[in-house]
Amino acid sequence: MTGSVRPLVAGNWKMNGLAAQLAEAQAVRDALGESSVAAEVMICPPATLLAQTAWAVKGSSILLGGQDCHTEAAGAYTGDVSAEMLADAGARAVIVGHSERRAVHGELDRQVRAKAEAAHRAGLTAIVCVGETAGERSAGLTEDVVRRQLAGSLPDAAMAANTVVAYEPVWAIGTGLTPTAADVARVHAAIRQALIARFAGEGAGMRILYGGSVKPTNARELLAIENVNGALVGGASLKASDFLGIVAAYGN
Ligand code: PGA
Repeated sequence: MTGSVRPLVAGNWKMNGLAAQLAEAQAVRDALGESSVAAEVMICPPATLLAQTAWAVKGSSILLGGQDCHTEAAGAYTGDVSAEMLADAGARAVIVGHSERRAVHGELDRQVRAKAEAAHRAGLTAIVCVGETAGERSAGLTEDVVRRQLAGSLPDAAMAANTVVAYEPVWAIGTGLTPTAADVARVHAAIRQALIARFAGEGAGMRILYGGSVKPTNARELLAIENVNGALVGGASLKASDFLGIVAAYGN
């Protein structure tokens, strides 16, 4: 099953990047132009840089994504960005339900689900994030939490072509810590099982990314695990050399 799914390596720049950061996107574009990589490569810059990044990678296979979206297409929502706006600026996908949104902005599963529905309405792929906190993990609740988040956050109409799940243990994000390969395999298998139970063949084809302290030094091991269909990369996506070092795990 894993073999039939084209993997995705997505870089989440978070709230980082002024115009000078575009040089990193260009460096990724230049390097990918000369290599053959089996994975789709995506950059999710801050909304302010989306249109400029689209120009910077024009003509390449690099995909762009947003980091969050509002549930409505337009309206009196000061400061928010809609999925339609992201698509208009060049995005093909949007991350929803990242743990930083859930923790800092109090987003609940039903809001994440509404955002995923908004992404689909706008023709974007929804990258839906799930993952347990350190406390939930030590209480042995990892699979329960992830199953509950999946059940609440994924729209009923989700399909393999428009939905990606990202498993990101909260305690592994930005910390340099990663779960063991066995732990990743166990959680990804539980996610796959839940996706198949709810979406049948579509669930079998949905990509499940691992995220949390992915680096060039651990990418090969993490990305070789069964049911790991790519990575969602934060800190290491800001430098082209690091990001390319992760993408290289799928090189020939
Ligand atoms: P990190 O972030 O790679 O910096 O740990 C991952 C993420 O939040 O998507």
